[in-house]
Amino acid sequence: MSILLKGGVVVSVHGRRQVDVRINGEKIVEVGTNLKAKDSVEEDVSGCFLLPGFIDAHTHLELNNGKGSMGTADNFYTGSKAAVAKGTTAVIDMATPSKGSSLKECLATWNHLASGNSSCDYTYHMSIIEWNPSIKKEIREMLEAGITSFKMYMAYDNLRTTDGEIFEAMREIQKYQGMLGIHCENGDMVNEMIAKFVAEGKLSPHYHPLTRPDSVEAEAVERYLMIADLADLPVNIVHLSTKRSLEAVKRARAHNQKVYVETCPQYLVLDDHLYDEPDFEGAKYVCSPPLRSISDQNALWEGVINGQVNTISTDHCSFDFDGQKTIGKDDFSKIPNGMPGVETRPELIYTYGVTTGKISLERMVGLLSEDIAKQFALYPQKGVIQVGSDADIVVWDPQTVGVISATTQLQNVDYTPYDGMQTKGSAKSVYLRGQKVAEQGQVIVENQGKFIFREIVTN
Ligand code: URP
Ligand code: ZN
Ligand code: ZN
Repeated sequence: MSILLKGGVVVSVHGRRQVDVRINGEKIVEVGTNLKAKDSVEEDVSGCFLLPGFIDAHTHLELNNGKGSMGTADNFYTGSKAAVAKGTTAVIDMATPSKGSSLKECLATWNHLASGNSSCDYTYHMSIIEWNPSIKKEIREMLEAGITSFKMYMAYDNLRTTDGEIFEAMREIQKYQGMLGIHCENGDMVNEMIAKFVAEGKLSPHYHPLTRPDSVEAEAVERYLMIADLADLPVNIVHLSTKRSLEAVKRARAHNQKVYVETCPQYLVLDDHLYDEPDFEGAKYVCSPPLRSISDQNALWEGVINGQVNTISTDHCSFDFDGQKTIGKDDFSKIPNGMPGVETRPELIYTYGVTTGKISLERMVGLLSEDIAKQFALYPQKGVIQVGSDADIVVWDPQTVGVISATTQLQNVDYTPYDGMQTKGSAKSVYLRGQKVAEQGQVIVENQGKFIFREIVTN
């Protein structure tokens, strides 16, 4: 069956055009003005924008924190439903092996968790949490299996590797033109600061951001970029959150390094005063890096506006307040790190970025979809509305208003960090590879997501 989306405005990073879009099967087959219905089912999308399905390049729908599985509140089933309902048609989840396991075993585990349980398409960044000859050999095998991007950590004792190991991994990834993203925080410094505050009996969530000040992130960013320069590898920085880190990126770029920067909605619309919420509610915002100052927030927006920040993904990693965050009631260092967000990213960025005039809708399409697709070898299958691409289309209604609420959200977690925030604009309907899977913020057909096999195309 073919579908004709009629009367909408198609948006890409290059501009917007009032054109009709015909979908046949999983693909976009025609884009043009005044297309005839022929035997297509016609859908009137006038008054709406047609945006390429959003891609979230940083989710932990399933989590292995290096100590085995730490059940997050969401999983592939619930998290992907929340994602697609609001316009995210693909996620790149952080697949993380346990110590001693192979990358292949981890890939099989993540495929088992996602397959048949995902309402949006999915692929993974493969985490490298230790380095040895067999992991080295597996880098190439991951690329052959369609995994072109990797993740490493400079903090978290169960996940981090040494600088030498990062360098070795970079050299191997470089051979195949893969993409590496790193969690940049100086793990030793974090440990020192936590030990200091705990010894002083300073145990409330207020102290979480003080253990991870901007220097902890900026030092790691600078070091990471210097190592990448030695390895001659273009790299990604995940969840960059401070002005000082952006300055380190600017320095590297001035030396002609290719650096991609991701930030997240929480660093753009929330700030560190929230750690002082009464009744332990500050724990809801415990994530790493932590929420930052208004001055950092302004610098990040500036980076989003002027192109220093390339992409916005969520770092969705949800833990219930009751029973999970409260594990750290008497000691902030025991609060599980992470916040939900896969559902709310499009509405937050549209509301706080586009409707405030900070960024254009074209830029939002780049930040949430097209530029992510290009960076992670998903383009032009994903990230664009053009003939031949997957028909992942968000019919975006700019007129709606809403309020984010824990009681109405689809994420399977007992709070949202954005509770009570007003939004403008939302996904009226969502097509995943040609099938309408969501309408008015609700999933109408679930579990249609497929694994996306990625390939590095070299010119
Ligand atoms: O606090 C966070 N961000 N938790 C998820 C894991 C990570 O650091 O990305
Ligand atoms: Zn991280
Ligand atoms: Zn993360």
